[in-house]
Amino acid sequence: MSYCPLAQTAKITNQVILVGSGCAYPNQRLTNTQLGLRVDTNDSWIRSRTGIGARRIIGPGETLTDLSYKAASAAIEMAGWDPQSIDLVLLATSTPDDLFGSAPAVQTKLNANNSVAFDLTAACSGFLFALITASQFLRTGSMRRALVIGADQLSSWVNWDDRRTCVLFGDGAGAVAIEAKETSEKGLIDFELRSDGRRGNYLNLNKTKDFSHLIENSSYQTGSFSPIEMNGQEVYKFAVKEVPAILQTLLRKTNTDPQMLDWLLLHQANQRILNAVADRFKISYEKVLTNLADYGNTSAATIPIMLDEAIRSGRVKPGDLIASSGFGAGLSWGAALFRWHGPN
Ligand code: UT7
Repeated sequence: MSYCPLAQTAKITNQVILVGSGCAYPNQRLTNTQLGLRVDTNDSWIRSRTGIGARRIIGPGETLTDLSYKAASAAIEMAGWDPQSIDLVLLATSTPDDLFGSAPAVQTKLNANNSVAFDLTAACSGFLFALITASQFLRTGSMRRALVIGADQLSSWVNWDDRRTCVLFGDGAGAVAIEAKETSEKGLIDFELRSDGRRGNYLNLNKTKDFSHLIENSSYQTGSFSPIEMNGQEVYKFAVKEVPAILQTLLRKTNTDPQMLDWLLLHQANQRILNAVADRFKISYEKVLTNLADYGNTSAATIPIMLDEAIRSGRVKPGDLIASSGFGAGLSWGAALFRWHGPN
């Protein structure tokens, strides 16, 4: 077949629409009061400073790959897709079961054998970065259907004796099914993405610096990681400054008045951060989606879990306009403006 530049250009009119969602979380539930049995903390401190009431933790017999599979299956079912029709399985995670990537294992469980599957790491911004990455394949016409999964198991990587961090995080997985459609109605309207490695030391999950003897005059670095280290106050300041700024840029460039938004869908890190962003735009708290009380911060999974819950409970309806922002380690942050479409 000969190369036809005109045909390629014509495909760029594709819009990206969101047609399915799903989520899954572990069985073990740990309340704030239960955490107080392990570290010097209490329900009142955690709720008032973060909004978190409980978190889910992966236990024996569960894996992050399984949770990702369950979330993705639910999204495929809602979308009404044949798994064989999926072109891309993109798994946003910082905590894969396999460091080489867990997306292919999810792909196989889904029977999505015609897809390419790979992992993407951008910490708590991972889902948003993956959504935008996947949407580029759809916009250019090189792919038609993509599953975007956000999943994390930070319970394996927190120091459970450090009350400043262990109270914040939980495990879970969420997914959305997106597809290309030649239409005038826009699903994914626009986006902005940012990173700043200069502030990367505020939140890390670093490899340990231990070396072991290999042979005479040679050593190798052992493959293990130190628990999460975080400068909570700096991350907080970063979030309340950069999230409103990036949303402002996005809303301006799309000529969107904040009052036109049906929902604000932010990375679920801290209720005080969500409220501060809403205050900045004079958005009523009823429009701020939150499930921190039940799950805490599930990193790359917070946005798709929250979206799926809001869709299945009937709060988010087809056509609703949603401004979303993810932020976290890297430092990384991003924002997307989209309308929920729902199944075709
Ligand atoms: O995806 C991004 C992930 N990271 C974040 O979202 C983190 C953003 N930062 C935050 O959410 C907040 O900074 C935290 C919730 C982490 C901390 O809240 P804070 O209001 O900044 O508290 P703080 O660190 O200033 O600590 C205040 C006090 C300290 O005691 P002293 O020094 O005043 O006596 C802490 O030792 O609270 C103490 N404290 C706790 N007390 C009970 C810290 N953690 C706890 C705890 N329980 N879990």
